Amino acid sequence: MTRLATRLQGIPPTIFTQMSALAVRTRSVNLGQGFPDVDGPPEVIARAVQALESGHNQYAPGPGVPELRQAVARHQQRHYGIELDPDSQVLVTTGCTEAIASALLGLVDPGDGVVVLEPYYDSYVAMIQMAGGVRQPVTLRAPDFRLDVDELRAAITPSTRWVLLNSPHNPTGTVLTRDELQAVADLALEHDLVVITDEVYEHLVFGVEHVPIATLPGMAERTLTLSSAGKSYSFTGWKVGWATGPAELVAATMAAKQWLTFTSGAPLQPAVALALDELPDWPARLAADLRLRRDLLCEGLGAIDGVEVSVPEGTYFVTTDVSALGWDDGMAFCQALPERAGVVAIPSQVFHDDPRGPGRHLVRWAFCKTPQLISEGIDRLAGADLGA
Ligand SMILES: Cc1ncc(COP(=O)(O)O)c(C=O)c1O
Repeated sequence: MTRLATRLQGIPPTIFTQMSALAVRTRSVNLGQGFPDVDGPPEVIARAVQALESGHNQYAPGPGVPELRQAVARHQQRHYGIELDPDSQVLVTTGCTEAIASALLGLVDPGDGVVVLEPYYDSYVAMIQMAGGVRQPVTLRAPDFRLDVDELRAAITPSTRWVLLNSPHNPTGTVLTRDELQAVADLALEHDLVVITDEVYEHLVFGVEHVPIATLPGMAERTLTLSSAGKSYSFTGWKVGWATGPAELVAATMAAKQWLTFTSGAPLQPAVALALDELPDWPARLAADLRLRRDLLCEGLGAIDGVEVSVPEGTYFVTTDVSALGWDDGMAFCQALPERAGVVAIPSQVFHDDPRGPGRHLVRWAFCKTPQLISEGIDRLAGADLGA
């Protein structure tokens, strides 16, 4: 076994796969994994079909088809006023997952410190380890999960070179405010750090503003922004993502990407270009609808005695604290839940370094599901004995 494989052995296999399999086996309502149960716009699917039937079936250019790179540049301009050269500042990837992997492998040297928000989206931990980087966590704590700027300042050491940001944040649903982002930017400028920011939930915010950190003064030059079509257009299975920013950061990301997948799925790229160009308001409508489903789930969970709800400002997820139900930890609760209630949820402790630490009693629930499914889940929970 290589040293890398040994390091990766310390990372448990993805909890989502385990929990989704458990949901199928126990016929549970799956409020665990974050995938919508309704597809994105039909005209986007029609464009993909057309591309499949009209010869878009061989390797796409390495950086992505020009049509999509241009559409991504227009998207950043339209929504945020960010100007990008589609040829040198936009890279198409196989989902945001590959953008994260390529950015970290292409940019982080062994021993580099990477400041990263805990709880983590799980691929960050694996990819920082694969790159040989050193994780320098800053924890968002229940119940409000705000960024503690003093903790951020304290996490930075002489070895720190990167900040891996995620806003809107999975799993907490925190959307960093302009002031919080300005504090990150100030520290990045002061310590000459580069920010890699995962903004896959950029459009899924509920009554608050999503501010790309690249738009803050002095940050465009030192920010690589990652996103994808999966969440914005409800095509999580398509895995079409992108990295944008300064040409040298994009080139380093491309250098790693070419040895991971070489190029990304050709026929889906024109379809995502159409979505970005012709349906720019679709994600905002999705967010308005998701907000209703967030409220439905939060109200339902909040009505259960002993469940404390932290209402999220964005993403697909709501977090609850289940300590008042008497459970030792969220893992034990989630393992008992399918049998007790026929519902699956994710223990947030898996997104933390220390399972006995600040995420110990937290549980993540997904509301990117139909209202019928959410209501069914709530009815089952309300009718079950959830005490330890
Ligand atoms: C924070 C975050 N980043 C990246 C991804 C992966 O995006 P994609 O499906 O486009 O690879 C997800 C998916 O859950 C996510 O939550």
